This record gives sequence, C-alpha cells and structure tokens, in this order.
Amino acid sequence: MESLILALESSCDETAGAILKDGKEVLAEFVASQIDLHRQFGGVVPEVACRAHMECLLAGVQKMFDEAGVTPDDLNAIAVTNRPGLIGALLVGVSAAKSLAYAWNKPIIGVNHIEGHIAAASFSCPEISYPFVALVVSGGHTNVYYIPECGVYQKMGSTLDDAAGEAFDKAAKLLDLGFPGGPAIDKAARKGDVHAFEWRDACLPRKNPYDFSFSGLKTAVLYAARGQKAGRKGPLLLDEQGVNDAAASFQHSVVRALVNRTIKVAKEKRVKWIAIGGGVSANSYLREMMSEQARKIRCNLAVPPMGLCTDNAVMIAARAHDLYCRGKFDDLELDACARASLSC
Ligand code: KG4
Ligand code: ZN
Repeated sequence: MESLILALESSCDETAGAILKDGKEVLAEFVASQIDLHRQFGGVVPEVACRAHMECLLAGVQKMFDEAGVTPDDLNAIAVTNRPGLIGALLVGVSAAKSLAYAWNKPIIGVNHIEGHIAAASFSCPEISYPFVALVVSGGHTNVYYIPECGVYQKMGSTLDDAAGEAFDKAAKLLDLGFPGGPAIDKAARKGDVHAFEWRDACLPRKNPYDFSFSGLKTAVLYAARGQKAGRKGPLLLDEQGVNDAAASFQHSVVRALVNRTIKVAKEKRVKWIAIGGGVSANSYLREMMSEQARKIRCNLAVPPMGLCTDNAVMIAARAHDLYCRGKFDDLELDACARASLSC
C-alpha cells in the first residue's frame, strides 16, 4: 500500500527521525546520539536526555524534508514512539508529533518501541514469513516472543531482573571499560578467553526454561573485578588481559543464554524464521552464535543492519506503515506511557 510516513523516536538517548515511502524506501533519516552528553555521568540522565531531544528534534525534521524533496503536504501520517521508555523523553517526541499533526492536519500513529525493534528485523529482511520467533534485547528489554501473525505477540520468556543491555553497561562499568558498555565489551571480548571464568550458565535460571537472569552474573563480575569485600568502589584487581578475559566470559554467558532460549522456543514452535532486534543485537558474538545455531535447526535468521539495531526512527516508520495499512490511527489525545508490554 502506498504511504509516506514521517516518524519520530525519542524514547531514550537517541533523537531520531525518518521519512519512509510505501513501508520500504527510506527517503531521509537522522539519528542524533547523546552518548557524549551522558558519558560524564556514566549512564543516561533523563533530564539531560529531554533537553537534548528538544534541542535537535525539529531541526532534524526540517533537514529531512530538504533531503527527501517532499513537503509536509505529501505526508499520509505522522508516527511517534509513545511507549515504553523514559517518560520525559517520550513526551518530547509525542508533543512534537501532536503539534505537527495538528498544524499540518495529518493523522497520528503511536508506536510501541518494542514492536519497532521487531519491525526493524522484518523491514531489513522482507522475505521473512509468519509465524516467527523474535528476540528483543536492548538496554530496557530482554524478551522472547512467538509471533503467529503481524501484530500478535505471545511472550515466551523474559528477564527476571536486569535487561541484557543493562547488564552489558554495568559489567563494563565494573571493568572500567566506559560507557556505553555494550560496544566496549564486544571489543574487549575479542582479545579475551571465553573460558577464563566459568560463568557459562549464570544467566539460565532453573525455574522457567525460557527466562533469563543477569544479576548473579553481574555480582560474579563485581567479585572478579574488585574482590569480594571491596565492593564496587574498590580498585580494579584485573590487568588488561584479565579485563579482556572477564569481558569475553561475561559476553559468552549472556549470549549463550539468549541463543539457548531463543532456539528452544523456535524448536518448540517449529518456526522457519527467527528475528533479533534491539541494541544488543548489534553484538558481534550474538550475531555469530545465533546464526550458527539457527542454521543447525534449519531456521532462517532476520538480523537488522547495525544502524537499525540500536534506537532509530526507520523501525518506527516501518511499524507505523503496518498500522497505517490496517487503518489503525490514534488521535490528538495520544499519550506517552513509560511502561508498556506487547499484548497477546
Ligand atoms: O535498543 P537500544 O539502542 O536502546 C534501548 O531501547 O534500550 O539499546 C541500547 C543497549 C545499551 O545497553 C548498549 O550497551 C547495548 O544496547 N549495545 C550493545 C552493543 N551495542 C549496543 N550490547 C552488546 N554489544 C553491542 N555491540
Ligand atoms: Zn530500543
């Protein structure tokens, strides 16, 4: 179906926009990362994120129109991430989208950020077919879904404590690898030994065969890095090779759990496709292990390119296109919501 959709994303620390034609052609996009702003605090500071979103959102939109060679008049809808995320950050995007929809007299579509991450995989791999299994793994989420048809989600497993991306960020902090932790651990782990620390099964809780738990592993990293008594403020006890080994062993344990659970669900549901999405799906070891294990059970794997793994607005526009085709619009009452899951 023909459509021209402007999408905005501001749920965390990336301000992003995209103009998508017919659900498949990106006419323009931008992602303004706030990493340098938050680095000094060692994590995302919500108030700082809001201010930065406000400063660059509308300038980014203006630039996209110039780049795409279209005008607001040509748009069929305005889409925006309205849930889940940091409430203040979401509100910046939602208020901007509502103002533009009102000023330009266009329909508005609120998009769930998690559905956006799943849409990134199907957008990148249009040959994917339902039913499929999706692993959404980011700084705020770690869920495995069975998806029998477009827009229907059965949550099979999720984390009992931290999200995997959060665990990457915390472990990197303990190992003095800096912020954001995911890419730093990914890099350090390439020079380390995955068997140096025996943390293999630390993320596989025994009770539910599909859930994850990352807090025990985090404590194991803390003890290895700073000693049992010193706590997180103690001096780093590991030398450079020790840090690389800890990064590799940590990553091995997290990735093993993510792959193990996803493959288990894929086998049980007998699907032909697995999709992965979210910031942690940019992890090179996860991409490698998942593709190896998916091949073993004769499943195809849909993996977004790097730029569509972390937060972006192309994935929001892609999901909005599906909603547009089904006539699912919101109105100017659309609200931001910090917490939201995907219903069945
Ligand atoms: O999807 P995303 O951009 O934002 C959320 O929706 O949370 O994910 C951000 C998370 C961060 O925790 C970051 O450390 C992690 O994704 N991440 C990675 C990698 N790149 C980003 N984790 C592991 N390996 C990576 N290469
Ligand atoms: Zn995200």
